Amino acid sequence: MADSQAPMVRPKRKKVLVDYLVLFRWIPAIFIALPISALIYFCIYVGGIWSATKSEKRRQMEHEENVKKVVQRLKQRDPKKDGLVCTARKPWVVVGMRNVDYKRARRFEVDLSAFNNILEIDTEKMVAKVEPLVSMGQMTKVTCPMNLSLAVAPEFDDLTVGGLINSYGISGSSHIYGLFSDTVVAMEVVLADGRVVRATKDNEHSDLFYAMPWSQGTIGFLVSAEIKLIPIKEYMRLTYTPVRGTLKEIAQAYADSFVPRDGDRAKVPDFVEGMVYSSSEGVMMTGVYATEEEAKKKGNKINRVGWWFKPWFYQYAETALKRGEFVEYIPTREYYHRHTRSLYWEAKLIIPFGDQFWFRFLLGWLMPPKISLLKITQGEAIRNYYHDNHVIQDVLVPLHKVSDVLEFAHGELEVYPVWLCPHRLYKLPVKTMVNPEAGFEQHRRPGDTSYSQMYTDVGFYYAPGAALRGEVFNGAEAVRKLEQWLIANHGYQAQYAVSELTEKDFWRMFDGSHYERCRRKYNAVGTFMSNYYKSKKGKKTEKEVLQAEAEAAIREAADADAE
Ligand SMILES: Cc1cc2nc3c(=O)[nH]c(=O)nc-3n(C[C@H](O)[C@H](O)[C@H](O)COP(=O)(O)OP(=O)(O)OC[C@H]3O[C@@H](n4cnc5c(N)ncnc54)[C@H](O)[C@@H]3O)c2cc1C
Ligand SMILES: *[C@@H]1O[C@H](CO)[C@@H](O)[C@H](O)[C@H]1NC(C)=O
Repeated sequence: MADSQAPMVRPKRKKVLVDYLVLFRWIPAIFIALPISALIYFCIYVGGIWSATKSEKRRQMEHEENVKKVVQRLKQRDPKKDGLVCTARKPWVVVGMRNVDYKRARRFEVDLSAFNNILEIDTEKMVAKVEPLVSMGQMTKVTCPMNLSLAVAPEFDDLTVGGLINSYGISGSSHIYGLFSDTVVAMEVVLADGRVVRATKDNEHSDLFYAMPWSQGTIGFLVSAEIKLIPIKEYMRLTYTPVRGTLKEIAQAYADSFVPRDGDRAKVPDFVEGMVYSSSEGVMMTGVYATEEEAKKKGNKINRVGWWFKPWFYQYAETALKRGEFVEYIPTREYYHRHTRSLYWEAKLIIPFGDQFWFRFLLGWLMPPKISLLKITQGEAIRNYYHDNHVIQDVLVPLHKVSDVLEFAHGELEVYPVWLCPHRLYKLPVKTMVNPEAGFEQHRRPGDTSYSQMYTDVGFYYAPGAALRGEVFNGAEAVRKLEQWLIANHGYQAQYAVSELTEKDFWRMFDGSHYERCRRKYNAVGTFMSNYYKSKKGKKTEKEVLQAEAEAAIREAADADAE
């Protein structure tokens, strides 16, 4: 066993021009991406203030007008001549890492850029009604001062409600509330034929409600969502617990941190996060909301991790390995966005000295560079280099498989730190694209209930050990192996990540039955591209797109006949 788990020994790789370009990547990052990002953040800030000055009624009215515009635009499309429908959002703006090649080919764009307002915060029903381009940073800025938060508030500021619902979203509270889409109460969707419907768990469009998550916008346009709010307190009392041992022991300590062995629910923390720093060291963090009064009691330590000069969070957490377990209080909003400034740990690769005290002090307030700007300043050569020498993947696996995936990844990827974030996967009334293992209820494994199985998002973002040592590393091959492992182990790959899946394997990983049925029922076929087609890799010329569209149409029509 120990042998198969050791990283493969690989030959050294010859250095080429692009290696040096990557080495000096920090120059455009600091001189172009950082200042422009700061400007954009400033504009967003002003935009937020502007939006807040409008009354709820006015925002709702503008929303209705904008929905009408989407409907009109869809009606202008001539299916014979115009390509398939997609949003006008530029591929480099989104946070995801896929090559959005379909946006280079024939397409019919619908502009959703006006949908960036928080429409209503209903403190009685505890529901926020928001438009799809509202970002997590924008959201917490409004809700935290009200002692409220989205039940699942993903950590990274720039993530949008639309992206988090139509693909997936997670945060340290997902072991209680599930994925982002599980906290949605209602969705307002514009369908291919221009109908506007409101879908909830139990109305006549409940099938649509369950088909939207992971659909990547290939069933309809989400134009607003009503999302569950929870009461929170001003501080997070965070406990950092160091763990040393084998990957198995680390995985066990991680599970123990949020699934109390005695089953005492009072011991389940509000927030959970695990970080694995090497094959023998990790730090588990558990957070419990605390009042300001408690945080400010004598003897308690308050850590304002949001200050620009503070150490990067993942490095700070790592100090627990030297210091031993410790506890501190972090202002809640600063805690939520703890990984933003250092882009988890990706910033270390882009600006290698970004974590140094002098840099943090002088320029830390400009961080992070917007992912979108990093994407445009990297060029084709560096992009391809990253595909081969870099990994960004999130995989969702059953909790009882976490140690297996850590061992597998140690051998194949050797990427550290590894991010661990637990989440419930609900058994829903219909079989959605992702679902728990068949018969999981019988095993009664730690963390499982009769209605949900405990999963974990395992995040691998960094340069693999081989690439760091200057050895040959085949990124595509490694991703392919990881995907096969996931299919065999009832795991799922996050859709923002680069994928090597063939169409057949894509639908072995994800369950397409309900999705396909809804695509036909809601007339999405022939208007929106199919999920696999949208996520597949490879450059698409005009001709290739036409051919692929024709083939897909024939296939989907044949499936419809067969039913
Ligand atoms: C550096 C980095 C950090 C990340 N951190 C986190 C994290 O902390 N937590 C987390 O959960 N995830 C994280 N992710 C992954 C994240 O879940 C995805 O990127 C997700 O897709 C959200 O990104 P986005 O808002 O840019 O959405 P997009 O990429 O714009 O959208 C995702 C999909 O949804 C579709 N879509 C978007 N809006 C609509 C709409 N209105 N109607 C129909 N379809 C729509 C898009 O077409 C697309 O297919 C991270 C990714 C990266 C690269
Ligand atoms: C938030 O909660 C604190 C008590 O923990 C209270 O003092 C404060 O007034 C609350 N804020 C709002 C807006 O309700």
